[in-house]
Amino acid sequence: MKGIILAGGAGSRLYPLSLVASKQLQPVYDKPMVYYPLTTLIESGVREFCLISTPQDLPRFRQLFGDGSAWGLSIEYREQPRPDGIAQAFLIAESFIGRDPVALILGDNIFSGADVFPGVFADFKSGATIFGYRVNDPERYGVVEFDASGKAISIEEKPRQPRSSHAVPGLYLYDNEVVAIARALKPSARGELEITDVNVEYLRRGALRVCRLSRGFAWLDAGTSSSLHDASAYVQTVERRTGVKIGCPEEAAFRRGFLSLAAFEELIGRLPKCEYRDYLTAVAGEARRPA
Ligand code: DAU
Repeated sequence: MKGIILAGGAGSRLYPLSLVASKQLQPVYDKPMVYYPLTTLIESGVREFCLISTPQDLPRFRQLFGDGSAWGLSIEYREQPRPDGIAQAFLIAESFIGRDPVALILGDNIFSGADVFPGVFADFKSGATIFGYRVNDPERYGVVEFDASGKAISIEEKPRQPRSSHAVPGLYLYDNEVVAIARALKPSARGELEITDVNVEYLRRGALRVCRLSRGFAWLDAGTSSSLHDASAYVQTVERRTGVKIGCPEEAAFRRGFLSLAAFEELIGRLPKCEYRDYLTAVAGEARRPA
């Protein structure tokens, strides 16, 4: 499974913060926002990435991650000249996707608290798998409706009158058909190639699986100043309480076996002295200690 991180868009809802850095590079407590979705995909076993952003912001991401090899990953970069829709990602990344299935994650979506994704990724065979998460403001999102047996029966983008309380988070798994489906899309009334239209097409084909995320699972999107603040507060609370970091790609790459212990320790040795380095040092130390 390949992975696309979509990290473009105008970020206008974060103005004037967006004058300094793009939304997905803003800090969420102790790390740049993009670390969180990247970590979610690494934890799910994804090793090959394509990061899509604006022509202005792409160089910053390149500087941040390079080719990914320091973390045992491969990361390619593609420009999205205008924010013409989330589903455009599949056209922009077509040569990267090749013949493989692909997971798309939005660069401002933060997931935490359950180990459901690695299993879902490992089980994925064909069609599409998306998620449903109960929220109290579903009209802000894609909304999925279920019948009495729990089967998804409709998906709508930001409906005025939502048919359910289940929003669709910004993490989507697709088979290779997604490229052809994206190619056939027409722009919506707001002029975008809608990810919801891709999901509607899979639903129409009877090939859409919706996996409901349980209570206790946290899905945050950090697209406004308030939600950015909430996300930081959440991460700080969990990290302080547990001593375990959320959204730490180096740790995830090591635990997933993408980095050997020696490579992990070498990487840590190159970091400046800081709390983040202390944390990774403790992770490596724990791995060295005999069980
Ligand atoms: O967060 C989940 C929601 O994301 C889904 O429930 C919706 O179905 C989906 O349409 C999307 O809704 P948003 O209104 O949050 O989408 P937004 O336009 O804010 O874009 C989400 C992220 O994707 C944002 O970080 C910017 C990036 N983006 C967006 C578009 C339209 C791009 O990089 N390029 C784009 O063309």
